[in-house]
Amino acid sequence: MNLFIFGGTGDLAQRKLLPALYRHFKADRLTNRVKIYGIGSNHIEDLVYQQDIKNKLSDNLDSIEFDEEVVNNFLENISYIKIDFNQNQDFDSLKKITSDSDRNLYYLAVSPVFYKVIVENLNKQAVIGPLSSIIVEKPIGNDLQSSVEINESLALYFNENQIFRIDHYLGKEAVQNLLALRFGNILFEKIWSNVAVDHVQITVAETLGLEKRGQYYDQTGAIKDMLQNHLLQILCLVAMEPPTNINSESIRDEKLKVLRSLRPLKSHETENHLVIGQYKEGAINARTITSYLNESGVNSESKTETFVALKLWIDNWRWSGVPFFLRTGKRMAEKRSEIVIQFKSVPHDIFDAGNRQKNNQLVIRLQPEESIKLKIMIKKPSASGFHLQELPLDLLFDDYYDEDHLDAYERLLMDIIDNKPSLFMRRDEVEDAWKYIDQLINSIDDSEIKLSKYNAGSWGPSSSDLLIASHNSKWNNEEE
Ligand code: BG6
Repeated sequence: MNLFIFGGTGDLAQRKLLPALYRHFKADRLTNRVKIYGIGSNHIEDLVYQQDIKNKLSDNLDSIEFDEEVVNNFLENISYIKIDFNQNQDFDSLKKITSDSDRNLYYLAVSPVFYKVIVENLNKQAVIGPLSSIIVEKPIGNDLQSSVEINESLALYFNENQIFRIDHYLGKEAVQNLLALRFGNILFEKIWSNVAVDHVQITVAETLGLEKRGQYYDQTGAIKDMLQNHLLQILCLVAMEPPTNINSESIRDEKLKVLRSLRPLKSHETENHLVIGQYKEGAINARTITSYLNESGVNSESKTETFVALKLWIDNWRWSGVPFFLRTGKRMAEKRSEIVIQFKSVPHDIFDAGNRQKNNQLVIRLQPEESIKLKIMIKKPSASGFHLQELPLDLLFDDYYDEDHLDAYERLLMDIIDNKPSLFMRRDEVEDAWKYIDQLINSIDDSEIKLSKYNAGSWGPSSSDLLIASHNSKWNNEEE
């Protein structure tokens, strides 16, 4: 099996893909069955490329993981090929390595602007065999039209089952655990709807800023970088109907139905449904953080949003009348990804007015730690009277599992190698997500909505608190 990484000297390959492949190799899951080829447009000797990977592995792995002897064995499986993506004769070198009976994996760890020319040249040099696969990263395109164009160009040479579209959130252990929680337990299913749910919150907050990706980010923004993919994918897993089985097509079919039920936002509703923000200077963990406009690669008058909060409706029987509040942002107070299912109040309160009855809440924390917390009311022990108190049923996964989970890219790379597509996005999912996002962006353009500034290290602009307050609620910003 051959794995060709276009962008073999780039950040994704060096920081995520090669460390993930090394960990598999070290754990004997890869052995020598996969030959790895880094591809780039500069001329680099194999030995220099290998030494560079070794240095990066030593930067990115801790001392226990970095075992020099294993690293050296791993590097023996890696070579470098110089290819100018625009020169089809350069792709000739692949022909010498590949044959139709090989499984050839072409990983495009490059900007989407190169996808088309790369697949055309792969085709011209006849190196796409029946067992070949192509791997592309989110965001697939910049809007519906460009994503259709990319998907069309891939579809010319690859069947849908040969295309792996990555959203690395789907490779996270905690995200997959949502399926176990929802469909491995009878407990929640009957109340997982407008019968008992008041609203749902999905938060993906980062303390990180742009990480040397200023130019990319400034042209992309939080809506396209995070909401279009990671948040909508989590939303689908929370809101979808039970699939008939765990097979990839059954799950993707159900996710697609959610995307198709999203109510398009009208421009006159934008103000009550959407907040966009951009961070100014501030502090995170006592470290001073510069404003977005001062970041390198960012236009000093940029209007790109680094935060978005959205009130969204799913028009189907299960979720009719239940708002979903989604938010994501850079340079926020904490790194935290979580889902909050806020339940309704009991239908009739039998307790005294002095007893503050709180509504049940299920908090599913995806990262940094993985936990499930169900907040319930109990009677507080007392000599007299009857006083209610809220306490959590608390499940912290680290208390039960010692071993580190596979990192998202480790899992996804293994699934690609084993040809298992369920954790990857199907074409229709990507395009339907773009349809929703395109119309959301149009409604922003047609409205008067302003970019609100927020301090780095905060939970976003105050207008985001007002958005959820309009539903008599507040974001779960509790310290744990
Ligand atoms: C990427 C975005 O897809 O996800 C980044 O492009 C973001 O901007 C990252 O920082 C967050 O991923 P994670 O796994 O750290 O939550």
